[in-house]
Amino acid sequence: MKILHSKAEMTAATIAWQAAGETVCLVPTMGSIHQGHLALIAAARKTANRVIVSIYVNPTQFSAGEDFDHYPRTLDADCAAITAAGGCDAIYAPANMYDDGHATSIVPAGVALAMEGQTRPHFFTGVATIVLKLFTHIPANFAIFGEKDYQQLAVIRQMVRDLDLNITILAQPIIREADGLALSSRNLYLSAADRKLAPSLYAEMQETANQIAKGTPVDAALTSAKTRLVKAGFGKIDYFDLRHSVNLQPAEKLVPNCRIFAAIWLGTTRLIDNYAL
Ligand code: PAF
Repeated sequence: MKILHSKAEMTAATIAWQAAGETVCLVPTMGSIHQGHLALIAAARKTANRVIVSIYVNPTQFSAGEDFDHYPRTLDADCAAITAAGGCDAIYAPANMYDDGHATSIVPAGVALAMEGQTRPHFFTGVATIVLKLFTHIPANFAIFGEKDYQQLAVIRQMVRDLDLNITILAQPIIREADGLALSSRNLYLSAADRKLAPSLYAEMQETANQIAKGTPVDAALTSAKTRLVKAGFGKIDYFDLRHSVNLQPAEKLVPNCRIFAAIWLGTTRLIDNYAL
């Protein structure tokens, strides 16, 4: 397993594999590798001959006051976890992806505008810009993203379509702890008490889905779930919505292919999750 730090080496390795008739799948990450990432890597391995995992904590997707400085940076442990799970062909760990004077960004609209786009307006500009840069450094055939960040996946699909990028985007279902909490690097921030409470978010999404399926009006089901979450000890609810899975528009009633999307604070941690009906 090579660990590469430079764009030139990474691009050359990708092109050499492709010239030999092999396909390449990129797994973009910010490190702090957990079972969710390992599932992405395993799925990538089934799809392509070569798998590259990028590890880069991207500053432009954090705003001032967010957790950029504290975000876990654990390259050695990440490499060990990937190796223990069967490895990949290369890890791309650039020290910096932005030259001095960097002044060009991708500003996605469309599916980027709702939910995270409202509460973290800088976020998708940072994500789209870094993902496009990664696709340039690594001209892979495929890239794979987790459905945990479902809106991110939708934004990337939209960017690939709108900018005619020559890459196929693959998605992998959410991996959950046994108690239902969706895996996330930020779960490390939860206190012991909050960690116990955190799975209630998944339980409430399931309960809301059941109620909607049984005929409870969508608005009433969402409102009662939010009330219960706050009563249970959760903090600010950024959103707890039913939306169409493709265009991410709000669904006022049960329609085919819709999902509950949630972002909610628990202590100092912001949990995000989604659940297909
Ligand atoms: O999902 C993530 O870890 C990041 O948003 C990504 C896609 C690697 C871009 O920095």
